[in-house]
Amino acid sequence: LSKNWIVNQEGIDKLIQSLVHELKAPLVTIFGFSLALQEDYALQLNKQGVSFLESINRSARNLDDKLMGLIELTEVSRQSKNQELTDFKEVLQDACHMLKSMIEKRNPQIITITDLPKVTCNKNLMVKVMVNLISNGIKFTPQERQPIINVGCKPQSKGYQFWVSDQGIGIALRLQKKVFELFYRAKELQKVAGSGLGLTLVQRIIQAHNGKLKVESTPGIGSCFYFTLPTLYK
Ligand SMILES: Nc1ncnc2c1ncn2[C@@H]1O[C@H](COP(=O)(O)OP(=O)(O)OP(=O)(O)O)[C@@H](O)[C@H]1O
Ligand SMILES: [Mg+2]
Repeated sequence: LSKNWIVNQEGIDKLIQSLVHELKAPLVTIFGFSLALQEDYALQLNKQGVSFLESINRSARNLDDKLMGLIELTEVSRQSKNQELTDFKEVLQDACHMLKSMIEKRNPQIITITDLPKVTCNKNLMVKVMVNLISNGIKFTPQERQPIINVGCKPQSKGYQFWVSDQGIGIALRLQKKVFELFYRAKELQKVAGSGLGLTLVQRIIQAHNGKLKVESTPGIGSCFYFTLPTLYK
């Protein structure tokens, strides 16, 4: 490693990768033995013991999700160099396919408001963008309501602006910048599953494509996430 190895993004990504690698080994042990305890010794524990074990197990899983999410973040800049003309209709289809179990559970209306274009980008990364934005729209619509997600796109002078909107709980104005921060999750929403990495990943992907990401939201009415993708030749 050179002297100033940490000052650029590549250095930070490498540091994160080696940290995650180091943390992963003890985590596998914790996770493995807590599972073994659950399987082989649960009968010898009282109710409280079983619940302690469940907590250890849940926390280990949670930590593993966070570590894997961090690795995903560090891979964006390399993957984003690999771009090809991509049909956004397919991106949306793939995203819905990946969200199959959530879609079966919550039965959302996912409506494409406009035609979706073909854009030069990294398809896998754009699928991740749509998976994260749509899953947030579904998760943050109260359980008792059917989630309604609108997806649209309009051409701009130098590319396209896409949007994904929901009619969920919305985000207070003072928190609208915070949602893009690493690990940020609204305090009152701890029951909803997640690592707080989704929007950081989305932002990183859009930035790697020289685009911009923003949110407009009204608490109690819903949220709309906008991202731009510039096209080089238009
Ligand atoms: N569509 C939305 N409506 C309301 N709040 C949202 C919405 N999207 C994000 N948020 C808020 O921003 C936080 C961060 O979102 P993000 O996608 O980064 O994390 P997450 O969905 O909680 O977890 P993960 O995406 O890692 O599974 C959420 O926990 C929630 O508080
Ligand atoms: Mg999310």
